[in-house]
Amino acid sequence: MALRTILTQGDPILNKKAHPVTSFDEKLHDLLDDMRETLTQAEGLGLAAPQVGILRRVVLVVNEQDEMLELVNPEIIAQEGEQTGLEGCLSVPGYYGEVTRPMRVKVRAQDRNGSFFEVEGEELTARCFCHELAHLDGHLYTELASRMFTVEELDEMMEKDGEDK
Ligand code: NI
Repeated sequence: MALRTILTQGDPILNKKAHPVTSFDEKLHDLLDDMRETLTQAEGLGLAAPQVGILRRVVLVVNEQDEMLELVNPEIIAQEGEQTGLEGCLSVPGYYGEVTRPMRVKVRAQDRNGSFFEVEGEELTARCFCHELAHLDGHLYTELASRMFTVEELDEMMEKDGEDK
């Protein structure tokens, strides 16, 4: 396994559409293993292959049970409700944005050996599925954000909140 470099906003690869995975081979398994190590090291909740420069439809999402799910060729097959909250991205370091997403989503995907499965997520996990799948079509959350904040602005807001109480 090896750490891969996470590309940041401005790199044109992040705006490209990723291709479906057709071979569930050693190369895919190496990519998934490297992405797992990279995401663990970065302490993020999700990572999409284009973020490490690979234009394939592969993502990782950490769910509420702290399990790192591997999704190959994922598609959202159902969604429900709405939530608005803060979202960050390893490719946009130092910022958070307010983004509206579905409250619940159901995703159909393949595992690393090509078997199909379905998985559901709500709240933060639903947000994460939507965010990571958007990376596969070359979209960053900053396109959807109604407001953007720097980490410093958020810290200041939280300090102010504390003073008011
Ligand atoms: Ni992201």
